[in-house]
Amino acid sequence: MTREKLQELIGKMTLEEKASLCSGADFWHTESVERLGIPAMMVSDGPHGLRKQDQEADHLGVNDSIKAVCFPAGCGTAASFNRELITGMGEVLGEECQAEGVGVILGPAVNIKRSPLCGRNFEYYSEDPMVASEMAGALIKGVQSKNVGTSIKHFLANNQETRRMSSSSEVDERTLREIYLAAFEGAVSSQKPWTVMCSYNKINGTYAAEHKEALTDILRGEWGFDGFVVSDWGAVNNRVPDLEAGLDLEMPASGGINDEQIVDAVKEGRLEESVLDRAVERILNIVYRFQENRNDSAVFDRDKDHEYAKKVAEETIVLLKNEDGLLPLSEKEEIAFIGKYARQPRFQGGGSSHINSHKVTGAWDVVKDWGNITFAEGYGDQEDVTDEALIAEAVEKAGKAKAAVIFAGLPDAFESEGFDRSHMGMPNCQNELINRVAAVQPNTIVVLHNGSPVEMPWADQVKGIVEAYLSGQAVGAAVVDILFGKVNPSAKLPETFPYKLEDNPSYLYYLGEGDKVEYREGVFVGYRYYDTKKMDVRFPFGYGLSYTTFAYSNLKLSAAQIKDTDTLTVSVDVTNTGSMAGKEVVQLYVSDVESTVIRPVKELKGFDKVDLQPGETKTVTFTLGKRAFAYWNTQIHDWHVESGEFRILVGKSSRDIQLEETVTVESTVKLPVHFTLDSTFGDLMQDKKAREILEPMMKLDMVGGQEEDSDVAASAISSEMMEAMMKYMPLRGVLSFSSGKVSLEQLQGLLDQLNA
Ligand code: BGC
Repeated sequence: MTREKLQELIGKMTLEEKASLCSGADFWHTESVERLGIPAMMVSDGPHGLRKQDQEADHLGVNDSIKAVCFPAGCGTAASFNRELITGMGEVLGEECQAEGVGVILGPAVNIKRSPLCGRNFEYYSEDPMVASEMAGALIKGVQSKNVGTSIKHFLANNQETRRMSSSSEVDERTLREIYLAAFEGAVSSQKPWTVMCSYNKINGTYAAEHKEALTDILRGEWGFDGFVVSDWGAVNNRVPDLEAGLDLEMPASGGINDEQIVDAVKEGRLEESVLDRAVERILNIVYRFQENRNDSAVFDRDKDHEYAKKVAEETIVLLKNEDGLLPLSEKEEIAFIGKYARQPRFQGGGSSHINSHKVTGAWDVVKDWGNITFAEGYGDQEDVTDEALIAEAVEKAGKAKAAVIFAGLPDAFESEGFDRSHMGMPNCQNELINRVAAVQPNTIVVLHNGSPVEMPWADQVKGIVEAYLSGQAVGAAVVDILFGKVNPSAKLPETFPYKLEDNPSYLYYLGEGDKVEYREGVFVGYRYYDTKKMDVRFPFGYGLSYTTFAYSNLKLSAAQIKDTDTLTVSVDVTNTGSMAGKEVVQLYVSDVESTVIRPVKELKGFDKVDLQPGETKTVTFTLGKRAFAYWNTQIHDWHVESGEFRILVGKSSRDIQLEETVTVESTVKLPVHFTLDSTFGDLMQDKKAREILEPMMKLDMVGGQEEDSDVAASAISSEMMEAMMKYMPLRGVLSFSSGKVSLEQLQGLLDQLNA
């Protein structure tokens, strides 16, 4: 509907009708206005499947939803690093929504994995904002190509479940920009999600629902968002200020209570009616966008979509360890499959994203008729309780086989929406099982089902580790194809696996004190911290093995020197040097060689996935703009590049850089300077004008008249020390050390000239 028509329609609405449109009709529908023929629109959870509830509604995953297809969760889709694949998944989801009459699917969820403990990490993409934003953008692009909306969530700085509805994320401006806002920014500005979901928590003391700077100034003003902002279910705090801040739609229904508040505020002159009209227009714009683009021929073909879910899963499973090339296994060998998850895989997490899968393929389902594979349960339904009999059976079967594959991971009770993990360990009974099996079977492989890093005390005892993440209902089939080499693993970790929880940068501050959670690690999240600290980690960010090998060559930059307004093109050749076709995730990091601000040693600024036949070479090209070199400058409240050299690092993971080159970037922005009596000579001398004005003063003897060549003087004060003394001396020091040759008035005069 055109803007004029929408406004005409809004003009016909009563105040009460307009207010009613600003909250849900029920749990999953927007309000309709029959009198004017305004339709309702259904929204449903996802985002890794369709959780359409047509009976009892809830937002916690309690009641059933329609039978649907569960795709890999965010943790896994990010590991694919494959934008096209995830856009394809979005297209499938969009088609499902069209078939089911769902106008907006509630996701993707891009919150940064600040700590391995966050209960919802399985839904989230990465510890890196670029990966989160790019993968979210890919999904949004696919869904919205089917004329169905998305709701990128949870905006903003919602990185824990503990006290999620009352805690305040205390984040400094630069960290917010470089990490937490950045996770949304690229996806919002390039893919224009139809809606954005604001989170429950506060940001620096203000509820997200009421955060005008986030919901309006940044989202709309800076990033060009033009859809509507919806509250997370129950996130509305104070309806009228929320509306003014930019929160358009409250979900679910508030039983009319909050609508009434809006009506009263308008009547009493506390709220401009135009603010209400603005929200109504934004909501109706999306409602009609869906309504006018319905695809009546869309079908929800669950079996077909299951196949796509498998295709995605094949690229979300990361091969972490493969000693002696044990994998892939031979289909003819005697092998023991061990662990309940082989039969009943854990393939998704609990809570609002929980999909009612129409069928689930476990690894055992695929191999049970082969004849050469045995199965032992290993641990029981109580996944956290050691069962000696089950372990003994597993050890016996493992001992008799050529290799053992243990399917392990985190039970639902360990990670879910609503609460955070209390430690990074796996259930003791599973660690015990792995140790005991590995003791009798040298060819042991562990397949993990989890949404976030786990400690692996047994890592050195086993030859193979496969991180299956929570890879959806087809996970078993995908795992088997990887174990037996039908599929070459190509996923990489979108997060670091530290050795232990205490290594994580947020460890000391994670859940904060009461409702105050200070993000004291600042921009040093994930590899930004581990790599800067040169800390040993279990598996680094961006890491993952393949059954083939890749060689990098021919790294070229389009220029050796650029301005921050230019772009730099980087190209690199990647060759498959092995004997199996495979895909490689090529990563580009930028490192500022020298910086006056504290920066991570490297930051991911590009990635691409290439598909290569044995012997084949492809050239991968990246384009870097200003943002690739910039940090957020809190003086000018903008991105800023500090002139100087930057290393361009291209590699297989953040710790496996294959090639590097250097580019010099010159800033075209001069930061405003204001000198005072406290400004040091070192800082003053950086400024050309100040240098000229102060040159004569530098010639004054300010350290007390020792003879330059006296031995005593030289041993007491080296020339380096002299230089440092001058460099760090504030301008006012001249008054103390120039023996009265310079007066305060003269210094003030100089400052006036400098600051003019
Ligand atoms: C969750 C959202 C979800 C909503 C609706 C909330 O509790 O945080 O992610 O979309 O419920 O189910």
